[in-house]
Amino acid sequence: MQFKIPFSGRAHAYTPDELATIIEAASNAVTLTQGRYRDIFETAFKAYAGAEHAFAICNAASALELSAQLCCFKPGDEVIIPSHTFTASAYPFIKKGATPVWADIDPVKRVVTAESIRACLTERSRAIVVVHLYGYGADMHEIMQLAREKNLIVIEDAAQSLGVFIDGKMAGTFGDFGAFSFHSHKNITTLGEGGMLVVKDPQAAAIVPMIRHNAHCAFTGQREDYWQPAMGNVDLPMLNGNILMPNNYCLGEVECALGTKLLERIDQINTEKRMRALQFIDSLADCPQLQFHREETDRHNYHLLVAKVAKNLRNEFIRRMSRDHGIQCVVQYYPLNRYPFYQKLGYGEAHCPNADEFFDNMVSFPFQHSLSNEEMALMETAAHQVLRELGC
Ligand SMILES: Cc1ncc(COP(=O)(O)O)c(C=O)c1O
Repeated sequence: MQFKIPFSGRAHAYTPDELATIIEAASNAVTLTQGRYRDIFETAFKAYAGAEHAFAICNAASALELSAQLCCFKPGDEVIIPSHTFTASAYPFIKKGATPVWADIDPVKRVVTAESIRACLTERSRAIVVVHLYGYGADMHEIMQLAREKNLIVIEDAAQSLGVFIDGKMAGTFGDFGAFSFHSHKNITTLGEGGMLVVKDPQAAAIVPMIRHNAHCAFTGQREDYWQPAMGNVDLPMLNGNILMPNNYCLGEVECALGTKLLERIDQINTEKRMRALQFIDSLADCPQLQFHREETDRHNYHLLVAKVAKNLRNEFIRRMSRDHGIQCVVQYYPLNRYPFYQKLGYGEAHCPNADEFFDNMVSFPFQHSLSNEEMALMETAAHQVLRELGC
């Protein structure tokens, strides 16, 4: 089906300056991976995020996997994860030996809270994955307090929340680890794939470059011949008595150069998205059947624009928006416990009524940054019309 306004797989266009940055890096990078553009990107990201340690990674799923590795889970260790999130928030932790326990979301904020996490605690709880879903910063002060009380590791899945601030501190920098995504859908994208891992503990941070890149490291001490005993070493320090396995999760130099350039524009993109979202939400304020999460501050970057549709009208609403107006609304974040993959692993049980209720009634509007004002206006008019037809 051809849509007038598709739910695009690509979030934003590149400016001429950004395109020139791609060409400059592709032309001049001495190595196309693991070079100076990566160092510049990591330095710029640390300055922007206010983070001590940040590492460019090929995507957020791999960044989450590295954080899961550094948790050194033991058999039986539980990780509390929202059921309402993208699958990559969860499987890296299962892959590294943890058992997921599904946490519910708050019905208004649509993310986990200290309360919903507390309901999942057992004596086996080791870590919490907090997802700033849709681009809204979860209640990190309360969650960090709970984590300190219970001695839990906190991993923030900030894949959707670059440039989101909770009382002036960026989401993704509160916990022990923060994973960011520059995937094609995200508010900035480094040519389709890309990520960043923020790490708090200096000992864990020192290991990341090695587990990111095949356990490659330099030989220590002076060598007479640079090629002996080998060009470079392969080694990893032990972490809490564990031998870690290496990966190759590097991000290329062109992507890093572009990422640095895009950081100059992220605040502007987020502000534009937020202003548009608020305008759309306010224009539909007379239709209480669409329930949005309205947030005026930089606590929400409106990566996605979602609403709950009241009275079981969701499917008919989406059907009419697409059939009659060519607008491709979608439904997102099937509760993970309902996927066959997690059920086959034995993780099909959850008590997450808010997540189930929200997913079963939610709509996600096309909201890529590249939409024109005319397309936004068209979507507004169409939503009004469909709701009227549905008797709202
Ligand atoms: C909440 C969430 N977590 C993790 C990821 C994984 O990000 P990436 O595609 O960079 O691996 C995504 C991206 O889609 C996401 O939305």
